[in-house]
Amino acid sequence: MSTSSDWPSRPAPDDVAGRLRWYADVARWAPSKHNSQPWRFVVDGGELEVWADPSRALPDTDRQGRELVLACGCALHLLCVAVRAAGRRPRVEVLPQGHSGPLARVVEGGPWPTSDQDRALLAAVPRRRTDRGPLDATPLPPDLPFRLQDAAQDEGAVLRLVSTPGELASLARLVEQADRLLLRSGTVDRELERWHQHPGDGRQDGVPVTSSRGQAASARADLVQRDFTVPGAVAAHDRPGRDQPLVAVLCTPADRPADWLAAGRALAAVLLLATTSGANASYADQPVEAEQLRGQLQEQLALPGPPQLVLRLGVGGQVDAPPRRDLDEVLFSR
Ligand SMILES: Cc1cc2nc3c(=O)[nH]c(=O)nc-3n(C[C@H](O)[C@H](O)[C@H](O)COP(=O)(O)O)c2cc1C
Repeated sequence: MSTSSDWPSRPAPDDVAGRLRWYADVARWAPSKHNSQPWRFVVDGGELEVWADPSRALPDTDRQGRELVLACGCALHLLCVAVRAAGRRPRVEVLPQGHSGPLARVVEGGPWPTSDQDRALLAAVPRRRTDRGPLDATPLPPDLPFRLQDAAQDEGAVLRLVSTPGELASLARLVEQADRLLLRSGTVDRELERWHQHPGDGRQDGVPVTSSRGQAASARADLVQRDFTVPGAVAAHDRPGRDQPLVAVLCTPADRPADWLAAGRALAAVLLLATTSGANASYADQPVEAEQLRGQLQEQLALPGPPQLVLRLGVGGQVDAPPRRDLDEVLFSR
């Protein structure tokens, strides 16, 4: 089973080929819907390409492949974090061959003066957690929301905070409505079943059936949570505690693959920064996934562009990291 590899305690190798491998080793810890890990990294000389892996698509809930590209954007951001931590400036070309080739090509630029913050962000990669239990934003630094917004903006996205009681109520209604719509379609459960990871099954992808707060508590949450439990599974994210997360919607200027990639890079930047302040995160994406409601979400919250993700952030509990596929399953050479 692939556990957190030793790269956080192992310096980046001296040779370029070793470093490209090290970067991909970091990048594979990106979040992805259902932990589908829909990426491939290809080394071509001194370049590292990030490719989407269509065999890991989720066509029932992600018809366009939007969330697939978004997950690859997260991996791309982690890759850049690793490059900077190794003292190099990442040079990134997005969609270098339009829509037919890799999503991005990364090369090492000149030297980069690695800062304590760069090291902290790298150290946050294995500590970042999706936590579907109660999350409390009240102990977080008061300036964190603004720093998160800056981090998203640096990657070409907007993190719109949802803070007034009226907006939170509108969002909660839309999440609940979308959750019911998606469940009623039947396809969501079928799709989810294929990505269930059961205790001891040894699979290196998918979502552990224990990693939610359980069916009843998920449905009762202010923003209805997606539930991954199966009968008999222990809900590992269920615990008492104040559920008062920072809620935000990640938006982009438009809704094309380049925007989805930017949203993914912004998501990873936001999550890593939040992790350095002790926060966990989870998602309430149902109204973005239910195509009938995505426009309403944008309209009701007066969002500055198409919504890509709905996030909850706050101090959570100790939750395990789902495993990742081995590096050799996702890294190839040309
Ligand atoms: C684009 C995207 C969409 C996601 N949507 C949901 C979601 O709707 N509900 C949920 O509980 N988790 C969602 N997740 C979180 C994944 O399930 C999680 O990243 C994955 O299981 C790996 O776990 P980790 O983030 O703890 O490493 C999403 C992640 C991404 C990147």
